[in-house]
Amino acid sequence: MRMTVIGTGYLGATHAACMAQLGHEVLGVDVDQSKIDLLKSGEVPFYEPGLPEVLSRNLESGRLNFTTDYAAVAEFANVHFLGVGTPQKRGSYAADVTYVRAVIESLVPLLEGDHLILGKSTVPVGTAAELQELADELAGDKANVEIAWNPEFLREGYAVKDTLTPDRIVLGIRKGESSAEEIAREVYATAIEAETPFLVMDLATSELVKVSANAFLATKISFINAVSEICEIAGADVTQLADAIGLDERIGRKFLGAGLGFGGGCLPKDIRAFMARAGELGADQALTFLREVDAINMRRRDHMVQLAKHACGGSALGKNITVLGASFKPNSDDVRDSPALSVAGSLSLAGGEVTVYDPQGMDNARKVFPTLTYAESTDDALKGADIVILATEWQEFREIDPVRAAELVADKVIIDGRNVLPVQAWQDAGWNLTALGRSL
Ligand code: UDX
Repeated sequence: MRMTVIGTGYLGATHAACMAQLGHEVLGVDVDQSKIDLLKSGEVPFYEPGLPEVLSRNLESGRLNFTTDYAAVAEFANVHFLGVGTPQKRGSYAADVTYVRAVIESLVPLLEGDHLILGKSTVPVGTAAELQELADELAGDKANVEIAWNPEFLREGYAVKDTLTPDRIVLGIRKGESSAEEIAREVYATAIEAETPFLVMDLATSELVKVSANAFLATKISFINAVSEICEIAGADVTQLADAIGLDERIGRKFLGAGLGFGGGCLPKDIRAFMARAGELGADQALTFLREVDAINMRRRDHMVQLAKHACGGSALGKNITVLGASFKPNSDDVRDSPALSVAGSLSLAGGEVTVYDPQGMDNARKVFPTLTYAESTDDALKGADIVILATEWQEFREIDPVRAAELVADKVIIDGRNVLPVQAWQDAGWNLTALGRSL
């Protein structure tokens, strides 16, 4: 099949490359010339394991190409995926759908004949129906444009796998005449043959599926982090507690990782946009609990800062503080709303001499917090530290040898913000190890 992918950020670039990998002919488009130049030369503008290989392979095969030209997009295919960003609006909790609308405004006047636009971006419920109205106005008599919604559930760090072999495919279609299901079945034929559940529903439900999934995940993380606050005071251990409740298959152990909490470009903004939309629909009370989910999550960062100050003898002033991790989670260079960077920034503002190291997130971190010191390696970061904070659980940090690390630091004090370090080994090496939600 021929198709285009509009927007080549984390979502769109991955989708375009993976659709080509499945055998389709794909043209990716973005308004950012520098991004398109990089992609055309086989370089992924962000860190995503496995994606550079899929990109190069499919550029070479000739099935994948990129452009900034909307006219080329209109010419190339009759199926278009829309994967532009919907960031949080300035001064509001709501999602900004300007970029999504701009795509329709740029593309639809150029179309002729029958076209299907499959939205993948996370949008407030009701957006797809509004976009259909907009498309109908702009298409006039020249084209017949259908808007359908096909939310994306990929996780950064696993984006290729999640796109090629998703857990489920969700498709929202309009009432009445629609060609979306037939076309989507052809697009996703490989996954459907492999018995991936393919769920067809109305537009509003499909939009809500995505935000509900992220709200649920955020709630699960904040639940265990709230329990973690109690564990700390009561002298209990949140990791053992999570193991025990996680064995109940109705609960499950995944996303019960207590620690510094969630960040990134999705979970925080999506729960806020969901609350904002509920308010607009007159159902404010339905999602007020998400305010608490957000508050519990943000409290983790403050708590870490307080723990660090306490470990420094009451004040961060003049202390050499090493923060291991800058990205919002391992296997990503994304620092958007990163808990690690938030802690590093706060301790720096409190007078600490903060040194940060991250295996992939350094360039992005430098742009957000140019005033922090950035080390060359884990060892370099550990040198002379009065206190070490493990803020993002990269494998490299999990495997630090506590005996060797002890020789590098000034003081053997570490706070495990992700509950991943082997406690006994660190204590045996003479470290004072603190972890969130546990009394060690
Ligand atoms: C998320 C959703 O998982 C994905 O389905 C959706 O498409 C986009 O949003 P992502 O933002 O890539 O994906 O990250 P995810 O793996 O969900 O992690 C989110 C945050 O939660 C990270 O900061 C992570 O460190 C944190 N987290 C995760 C925890 O604090 N504890 C856990 O147990 C799990």
